[in-house]
Amino acid sequence: MTRMAMINLKADNSQQMGSLQLLELLRDGHFHSGQEIGSSLGISRSAVWKRIKKINAEFGVIVHSVSGRGYKLAQEMVALAPAEKFYGRSMSWDVALINTLDSTNAEALRRLENGITAPFAIVCEQQTAGRGRRGRAWASPFGENLYFSLVVKVNKGVKQLEGLSLVVGLAAVRALRNIGVQDIGLKWPNDVLASGRKIAGVLLELVGDLADVCHVVIGIGINANMLNSAESINQPWTSISIETGRLIDRNALLAELQVQLDEYLANHLALGFSTFCNEWRQNDLWCGRLVELSSGERQVTGVVRGVDSTGALLLQVNDELQVFSGGELSLRLRHDS
Ligand code: BTN
Repeated sequence: MTRMAMINLKADNSQQMGSLQLLELLRDGHFHSGQEIGSSLGISRSAVWKRIKKINAEFGVIVHSVSGRGYKLAQEMVALAPAEKFYGRSMSWDVALINTLDSTNAEALRRLENGITAPFAIVCEQQTAGRGRRGRAWASPFGENLYFSLVVKVNKGVKQLEGLSLVVGLAAVRALRNIGVQDIGLKWPNDVLASGRKIAGVLLELVGDLADVCHVVIGIGINANMLNSAESINQPWTSISIETGRLIDRNALLAELQVQLDEYLANHLALGFSTFCNEWRQNDLWCGRLVELSSGERQVTGVVRGVDSTGALLLQVNDELQVFSGGELSLRLRHDS
């Protein structure tokens, strides 16, 4: 628990450098004239215009252009920043910051294949192929949210992972509460909802010998400053800035998330899921609600009765209490619930 998190804010390649310099200038959300930008970056006004178009194409960032005033980002953007912005907190793992990735989980798996030793974490500003549960995409616009993956080594097979995804959800809830989000809780197994809408999701991916030594990639996506750029999301969603009415510093969020993860993972490893049962129940938003559980083609209707000591879902189907577990299951509220 002593190593300082080290991250580097730098261009992923030389072509990105120019775009990032421009973004850096515009991050404050104020107007900057073409002339001012041009002289800061040492380029002509027409090159500024081309670069504005490029950051839109490359990062999907919206820049307003107003004649006589110049250019301004549609929304102020607080950059993910180097280690000194971790508010003096120390982590058990190193964190690599990359601007653009297909997916932090995919990058984590590649790094494992390349022999990087766990634990390690990856965070990025934008995902071009962010993965959600059940094969869904995860909306990942540039500079707005948190896209984070942590890789942990598991020494005693998947039994050691029982209930882990629920515990990660609890850690995310605690972090979000500490950042100021209220009316927050969980929908089994690990959807984090604020005001009844999705604010964060967890995707665990396993590799290696599931009966012996393996690795788990813990992917967490938190909607931080996203206000409206997620038309591709097919479920009700919210973000920290929508909930709190202010832009948040994603560095503070990242630090808080990691502090909570560090503690929750250590307790889970030492004590197992059963020790979290009460906390889970306190955060279970859908307990007592009538739901439809989908598992592939199969659908079961019942009333949520919480979780058992392994983190499996308890569903009352007619008069029978049935137990469900597995990553491919999903719950939906019945309209008559
Ligand atoms: C869900 O569907 O609820 C899970 C979403 C998980 C998204 C995160 S973002 C960081 C990490 N990288 C990914 O590609 N997915 C996870």
